[in-house]
Amino acid sequence: MRIVVTGGAGYIGSHTVVQLLEAGHDVVVIDNFANSKPSVLDRIEQVAGTRPTLVAGDVQDQAVCDGALLGGADAVIHFAGLKSIGESVQHPLRYYGTNIDTTLALLTSMARHDVHTIVFSSSATVYGPDGKPPLTEDSPTSATNPYGWTKVMIEQILRDACVADDRLKVAALRYFNPIGAHPSGLIGEDPTGVPANLAPYLAQVAVGRRDEVLIFGDDYPTPDGTGIRDYIHVLDLADGHLAALEHVAAPDFTGFGTWNLGTGHGVSVLELVAAFSRAVGRDLPTRVTDRRPGDLVASYCDPSKANADLGWKAHRSLEEACADAWRWQQQNPDGFPG
Ligand code: WQD
Repeated sequence: MRIVVTGGAGYIGSHTVVQLLEAGHDVVVIDNFANSKPSVLDRIEQVAGTRPTLVAGDVQDQAVCDGALLGGADAVIHFAGLKSIGESVQHPLRYYGTNIDTTLALLTSMARHDVHTIVFSSSATVYGPDGKPPLTEDSPTSATNPYGWTKVMIEQILRDACVADDRLKVAALRYFNPIGAHPSGLIGEDPTGVPANLAPYLAQVAVGRRDEVLIFGDDYPTPDGTGIRDYIHVLDLADGHLAALEHVAAPDFTGFGTWNLGTGHGVSVLELVAAFSRAVGRDLPTRVTDRRPGDLVASYCDPSKANADLGWKAHRSLEEACADAWRWQQQNPDGFPG
């Protein structure tokens, strides 16, 4: 199939583009490189042996979306958007504007060019603070920050668009915590500035770019006192997009569906630090600090709906994810070139 991937030069986007290319799909990437670099495309070509077509620009720009879809497409995978919870609290208008306007521009171009299938990058953040893990797709959605609200709102926009146009077929994929990298070490997570997320921060401590891992609170009501999350290897996450694409593109699927993409296993901060230390071969320095405002005690999913509907299941281990992330970081201490 010919797949247009917005944000295809990003962390999850680039790993998904590699899997799409290796599965024989033609891929067009739209990216404005706001949170990624053009050299990612060179690395994708090195890994996959073929290069996606690039439409450099902003998905908010209707002409950019029209240009990418002009040649027709079988489906769109929509990653492009802003994704920092903390930044969204500081700059809510930028987050609502960017994340929602990109989606509206994309849906408008899809309708214009007779493209009716979209896989949307949603998030476990839509479950908000009230959901009790293991979270199912029927768990209540709400949000505690503008970033999370954009995901809740975009899912609603997609539901309403499906009601208005019964040709539209939508998979909203609710990601838990992506970690790891392609085993080649050629692509991986390359956050801009100080990493907000634990896994890339661990990798930067391990490679010597940061002094110590700050543990945001060890007095939570959990076995070891630290927060629990569902860490899923980014390639399992990428494979989940290909499975969702097949599922919603099939003639017998109509309308809107949501699926959790996670392992179903909760892992604590200290357990991840220990696993990463084993991958690195030495204990990483840590320091316990105050809790981070807004953090959930525990968030992990029940992945059985995706397992059943999509024929997909996360299978890469935490150890594998840590080893792959460490290989990427060792080979690219300063991230992607350029
Ligand atoms: C994980 C655990 C922290 C950093 C992320 C994204 C969010 C969304 C959901 C996309 C928590 C602890 C963290 C550190 C720490 N992703 N921690 N020291 O909070 O689940 O949110 O996934 O939609 O955008 O941010 O992931 O990696 O930030 O935190 O102790 O330096 O690690 O308290 O328990 P989180 P995270």
